[in-house]
This record gives sequence, C-alpha cells and structure tokens, in this order.
Amino acid sequence: MSSNKPIGIFDSGVGGTSIWREIHHLLPNEKTIYLADSKNAPYGEKPRDEIVALSTKNVEKLLALDCKIIVVACNTATTNAIEDLRQKYRIPFVGIEPAIKPAALKSRSKKIGILATKGTLSSELFYSTAELHSKGTEITEVVGTGLVELIESGQKDSQEMELLLKNLLTPFIENNIDFLVLGCSHYPYIIPVIKKLLPPHVTIIDSGEAVAKQTKNLLKDNNILSEENRGSCIFLTNKNPEILKGFVNSEAATHEVSYLDF
Ligand code: DGL
Repeated sequence: MSSNKPIGIFDSGVGGTSIWREIHHLLPNEKTIYLADSKNAPYGEKPRDEIVALSTKNVEKLLALDCKIIVVACNTATTNAIEDLRQKYRIPFVGIEPAIKPAALKSRSKKIGILATKGTLSSELFYSTAELHSKGTEITEVVGTGLVELIESGQKDSQEMELLLKNLLTPFIENNIDFLVLGCSHYPYIIPVIKKLLPPHVTIIDSGEAVAKQTKNLLKDNNILSEENRGSCIFLTNKNPEILKGFVNSEAATHEVSYLDF
C-alpha cells in the first residue's frame, strides 16, 4: 500500500522550514505542504489555550488540503497542543521536542543548556521529558525572548541579533555547559551567530534529523509512503511570502511559495 497525498507541516512561522528541509532531504519523493502561521507568531508567549486553538486551526487547513500525516514543526505547539490534537484527529502526528536526551547522554561536564520559548519551557510535556532524561545533569534554561521576532522579520544575521544573543547566551557560558540544545525550530537559522559567541567546545544540537526519521517511520508503519518520483513542495504563509521565500527558495526543486489567508 502507498499514498501520494502530501505531508502537512506547520509552524508559527518560517522556522519550521528547518524541519521541512530535513524531511525533504530524507524523503525527496514525498509531496509537502508547509503552513507558516507568521501572522500569529510568536506562539511562545501565548497562553496554552491559544496555542491549542491556533494549532487546531492549522491542522484543519492541512486536512482540507488532503494531507496524510501532520508534522508539528514547532516545539511550542508540540509541547502544548499535540496531546489535544492526537485525541481530536485520527491522522498520524509527528511532533518536535528539545533533544535533551542525547545532550544529557553525551555531555561530559554533565552541564547542558537549553534555549527555547517560554511556552515550551513552561509546558508539562517539557518538564516530564527533562525529568526523565536528565538525571545527574544540570540544565540551564534560557527563554529566547525576541529571537523569533527578529528571524520572522528577516534579521537573522543582523547586529541586533548578535547583541541580543550575547545577552541570552551569558548564563550558558557562566555555567560551563558543553552541550546546547536548541528547543525552537527557528533557532537552527542562527547557529552561525551562536557559534561565534559560545566557546568552541560547546556542541549545538537540534531535533530536525530525528523528526525527519520519525516521519519516515510513521509513513512506513502506516503504509503511506509515496510512490512518486519527485515530490512537489508548496509553502503557504498568512504574512509576507517574500520573507518565507528567503528561507526555502534555493533548495526545493519543484516548489511554490504563496500567500493564503488561514
Ligand atoms: N518555532 C517555534 C518553536 O519551535 C515557535 C516559536 C514561536 O512562535 O514563539 O517553538
């Protein structure tokens, strides 16, 4: 059995394209539809109920577009809403959570850092995962206030970004971490600036590859892998398509970026 229907992916904005990229790389034959809810970004400062409502709206849109599986390419939406979504809909969901487990396992100093949104760090799912996987490891948590806004407005390489990060990364340096977990799908886009500011021995990890592998496993388990040769990639945003284009244009072979009011 197989299915040539698209994989639906959503995020609060352009950040989840870092996850789309990993999925497209691992599963080039799959069609993808990416929804950037940039009009409502950032999700990270919103109350849980609102994050659930926005995530539900995105899922409804992807279901209307006939998606066969949904990837929640947003840590904030996963940690706050995926349980509600799984209860409400029968379609398979893949979520993204901060990679605490591999960082805690590999850390030599047993001191790791996590940079994520307020919504993720204050969620029950994050708390229980961190409890489970970080025994004997000290975690320094920092809320990345302001980072998503700068990335969404196309300023990922700006001087403002460097200044903001300099401040945000200070607790990690002071606490001597050797692993930094990026707990927001927007943050892989600022790895070059983070690397410049952290000591060279600090390893930075994110969850993109793991999410792509999990997507492949779920497609296989549900017998819904595509039989096509090359999947088309559609990107839809309810804000500025020009910004979204900048994040995906050079990579997707067959693709289309457009505005949609959702
Ligand atoms: N990209 C998102 C995440 O992974 C959300 C960031 C936000 O909208 O605050 O958490």
